[in-house]
Amino acid sequence: MKPAPQTYHVKSFGCQMNVYDGERMAELMAAQGMTPAADAAGADLVVLNTCHIRERATEKVYSDIGRIRKDAGKQGRVPMIAIAGCVAQAEGAEIVARAKVDVVVGPQAYHNLPALVAQAVVGEAALDTDMPLASKFGKLPARRKVGPSAFLTVQEGCDKFCTYCVVPYTRGAEISRPFAAIVDEAKALVDAGAREITLLGQNVNAWDDDGRGLHDLIRTLDRIEGLARIRYTTSHPNDMRQGLIDAHGDVESLMPFLHLPVQSGSTRILKAMNRSHGRDDYLRLMDRVRAVRPDIALSGDFIVGFPGETEADFADTLSLVDAMGYAQAFSFKYSPRPGTPAATMTDEVPEAVMDERLQRLQAALGRDQQAFNRASVGRTCTVLVERRGKLPGQMLGKSPWLQSVHLMGDHAIGDLVEVELAAAGPLSMTGVARMPVAA
Ligand code: 5AD
Ligand code: SF4
Repeated sequence: MKPAPQTYHVKSFGCQMNVYDGERMAELMAAQGMTPAADAAGADLVVLNTCHIRERATEKVYSDIGRIRKDAGKQGRVPMIAIAGCVAQAEGAEIVARAKVDVVVGPQAYHNLPALVAQAVVGEAALDTDMPLASKFGKLPARRKVGPSAFLTVQEGCDKFCTYCVVPYTRGAEISRPFAAIVDEAKALVDAGAREITLLGQNVNAWDDDGRGLHDLIRTLDRIEGLARIRYTTSHPNDMRQGLIDAHGDVESLMPFLHLPVQSGSTRILKAMNRSHGRDDYLRLMDRVRAVRPDIALSGDFIVGFPGETEADFADTLSLVDAMGYAQAFSFKYSPRPGTPAATMTDEVPEAVMDERLQRLQAALGRDQQAFNRASVGRTCTVLVERRGKLPGQMLGKSPWLQSVHLMGDHAIGDLVEVELAAAGPLSMTGVARMPVAA
């Protein structure tokens, strides 16, 4: 028998869906009467909500466990440790065997966290990596107070099986939450303080409920009083239907931003990645999006050094970047993931070549981000104030195009402030308030 934990700390790594899951796990703990601890070292229960998307994730989890135990040990504490998220799903009992953690819980099973903790208290092995058909969402407590910008998971899992990716294995098959449950949660989030909601899914634009698509959901959420902004991420080019593109043209609360990963600009590599779209499909699609919303900020994900990637393939990626003019983008070195088809491909790209390509790609993306920011100078827009800045009197928020905007003045967190974007930095903008458009 161990003492039942009174305080908890949830640490999330990786994608925004993990951030959302981490919040929901914290709500579960709070509903049990536990209170949050400021840091991991001071908590009775530490939940590490892990990410498995790229390499070293697993090793990082083991070293984090060691560090948490050491820091807690200095205070004479022995915390209970729960491993959640995609490493939990992928490693399962291996983590218990290797690190003697108390609880292992997968991304589709975390509604059982309180029961698993109770099991660990009485000294039983507590492991749940099931992917039940019935969704966890109905078993989670109501939303608590949230910040002005909140996440809402509407879709999970992936059926696309890109050859490099672990997500279909760790998050399971594509499932969509029901329309009514999402609308209810969105209303609860607005009541709890949200002014912006980002709809989340591994393939969020594959969301579907009985023939209704993401655009129908967005049009319904658009009517919620008090909800000023809607975003969604992350999307797959093949699920980008005309209805959603049209919504970008006429739904005012749908922000002019689209994160649409392409991964490579080479049709040959896209085929090897099993992306099921070519370079030109992607470029044509983006033209259609820009046609309805010319100011839209575009974003993407890239992998360099996929097995077999030649200099010519990489040149195709650079030329696609040039053609697109992304407002921002994420880029990664290919990392072989155990159990994925690409992990057995033999024509690996040497590490030094990957490093060099990543540098060139990031230089191009950085240049375009800066160009986008410079081109925004002089624009008037709203900024949703999300937190205090580092300087006295400075606040930090987001523009509609997801740029970070610094502004001075007497603004409260959650205010929508009309600003003129006055100056551009490489990663952020400076705004000057004009007049409040809403309290
Ligand atoms: N190696 C490198 N990057 C990867 N991603 C997914 N799997 C891998 C991998 N094995 C990247 C993709 C994806 C983003 C979330 O992570 O670009 O869009
Ligand atoms: Fe992974 Fe591809 Fe699915 Fe995205 S679409 S989660 S990259 S398998």
